Amino acid sequence: MIEVRGLTKRYGPKVAVDDLSFTVRPGTVTGFLRPNGAGKSTTMRLIVGLDAPTRGHVTVDGRSYADFRAPMREVGALLEARSAHPGRSAFQHLMALAHTHRIPRRRVEEVIEMVGLGAVARKRVGGFSLGMGRRLGIATALLGDPRTIILDEPVNGLDPEGVRWIRDLLRSLAAEGRTVLHATSVRRPPRSAYPCSSSRHDRSRWRTLS
Ligand SMILES: Nc1ncnc2c1ncn2[C@@H]1O[C@H](COP(=O)(O)OP(=O)(O)OP(=O)(O)O)[C@@H](O)[C@H]1O
Ligand SMILES: [Mg+2]
Repeated sequence: MIEVRGLTKRYGPKVAVDDLSFTVRPGTVTGFLRPNGAGKSTTMRLIVGLDAPTRGHVTVDGRSYADFRAPMREVGALLEARSAHPGRSAFQHLMALAHTHRIPRRRVEEVIEMVGLGAVARKRVGGFSLGMGRRLGIATALLGDPRTIILDEPVNGLDPEGVRWIRDLLRSLAAEGRTVLHATSVRRPPRSAYPCSSSRHDRSRWRTLS
């Protein structure tokens, strides 16, 4: 469960996130549906401690991200930026991360298969298409088998097959009892794509940020 309480983030005079509160419960895919510039990516960075809030706080399963001894086993994140070194293969990238958490090689092989990168796992990431890069990002998020998964614009720019694949994957992760939060500024596809998305109650609490 993700609990965001009174979260505010300012960058100088710019208020990126303004007194935001919401709860993301396990077992459903929750859409963080706000327009461009509303503070979705900032909120996600705050959830995983990549930025510090000006006010308020975020907990995941009752704890701050900074308190997790093995964060990848608690929260898997697909954020805006691509994080893999272009000269590394997908396999090398995942193995390097796996080493930091004592995750075995068989889990690396498992997530590679799970995201359908088996055929290209030994190729340089620099040559990956947008869809392949997104699949690698999802493999990275899932590597530690986390209970909480957050994804920033996971379907942006993907073809219909890729959108369908991600949609089905998120549904199955939620059905396993995980907490799944995805940010999107695109209203239509996620609404129809994620019928189990967040309750109106939660969504109505998301204020319009400027
Ligand atoms: N590091 C930063 N320094 C200054 N301003 C920032 C920084 N990060 C974000 N902002 C500003 O905060 C606001 C929210 O940005 P953010 O990227 O979180 O929005 P978003 O909802 O993810 O937008 P998009 O849908 O375009 O991805 C924007 O006005 C942005 O310019
Ligand atoms: Mg964003």
